Amino acid sequence: MLRRPRRLRKSGAIRDLARETVVSTDDLIFPLFLLDGNKQKTEVASMPGIFRLSLDLMLREIEECMNLGIRAFDIFPVVDESHKDKSASRSFDKTFFYPKALSEIKSKFPEALIITDVAMDPYSSDGHDGIVKDGKILNDETLEILGKMALTQAETGVDFIGPSDMMDGRVGYLRKVLDENGFQDTGIISYTAKYASAFYGPFRDALDSAPKFGDKKTYQMDPANRTEALVEGQLDYEEGADIIMVKPALPYLDVISDMRDNLPVPIAAYNVSGEYAMIKAAAEKGWLDGAKTMDECLLAIKRAGASMILTYFAKEFAETRGNY
Ligand code: PBG
Repeated sequence: MLRRPRRLRKSGAIRDLARETVVSTDDLIFPLFLLDGNKQKTEVASMPGIFRLSLDLMLREIEECMNLGIRAFDIFPVVDESHKDKSASRSFDKTFFYPKALSEIKSKFPEALIITDVAMDPYSSDGHDGIVKDGKILNDETLEILGKMALTQAETGVDFIGPSDMMDGRVGYLRKVLDENGFQDTGIISYTAKYASAFYGPFRDALDSAPKFGDKKTYQMDPANRTEALVEGQLDYEEGADIIMVKPALPYLDVISDMRDNLPVPIAAYNVSGEYAMIKAAAEKGWLDGAKTMDECLLAIKRAGASMILTYFAKEFAETRGNY
C-alpha cells in the first residue's frame, strides 16, 4: 500500500497539522432574547441555559461574552400580547423598548456587531411574518411595514438588519429604503434560504410567536427543495444582500455548500433553536456527550461552507472550548 491515510491520523500533533476546518469564537453570532423592563430573567423551558433578559441584564451578558471573544449578537424582542396587532405597529414605533434598548446597547458597546431581526411575527397578533388578509399573507403590502421596521432599527445604529420574513423582493426594497435615508453603511444579512421547519419550535416558545392559524409554508421554503435555494440566493445577491443565510443549518448542509459554491459573498448558517434543544435534551438524559456533540455540529456547519454561524451554543463554546 503506497497510500496509508492513517499516517495522517497517527498522533494529536499530525492531526492538528492536517486539520481542514477550525471553529473559533470569531465565527459565532449569539442570538439573544430581549425582555421589556428591569431585572427580568426567565429561562426558555425548551432551551436549557438560554434566558430571556431585560436590558440591564443583557448589557452584562454582552460584556461577559465580549470578554470571552464573542463579538456578534442577534437580538430578538419578546413582545407582550397586549402590544401585538395585525399590522405589527410596535415594530416601527421608535419609543418601543426594542429600538430604545438597541441604541443603548450600541452606545455601550460600539465595537460589538449588532444584528436585528426584520419580520412581523413577534409583533403580529396573527403570529405571521406578513400582513394577513382573508387567510392569505400579502407580499407587497408587507414590504412597506418591513421598510418602516428596518428604518426604525437602522436609526438605532445597529450594524446589520436581518430580514427573516421570506417575502419576495424584500432585500431590494429594504436596500433602497436604507440608502434613501442615509443608511448606506447598514448591512443586510438576509435569511435567504429559510425553510418551513419544525426546528423553530423552541424559538417560538421563547417569543410566544407561533402562528395563530395555519403554517408558514406559503412563504418559507419547502424542505424538499435544493435547487430553489439557488433562485433565492441569486435574487438576494442581485438585490444587494451582503451576507446570505441558510436556516436551519444541520439538516441543510447541502444547501450551505451550494450557496458557498455559487455566490461570491459570505455565507451564514443559523443553527436554530430546535437543533440546540435536541442536543441539550439528549445530553441531559446522558444519551450524548453534549460538549463533543456541540463541537462536531459546529464543525460540520463550517465544513459545509458557512463562514459564520448563529448559534445558541456561542457562549458555552467560548467558555468551554475557545478555539479547537
Ligand atoms: C422570525 C424568526 C424565526 C426564527 C428566527 N426569526 C421563527 C420563525 O420563522 O417562525 C427561528 C430561529 C430559531 O428557531 O432559533 N421570523
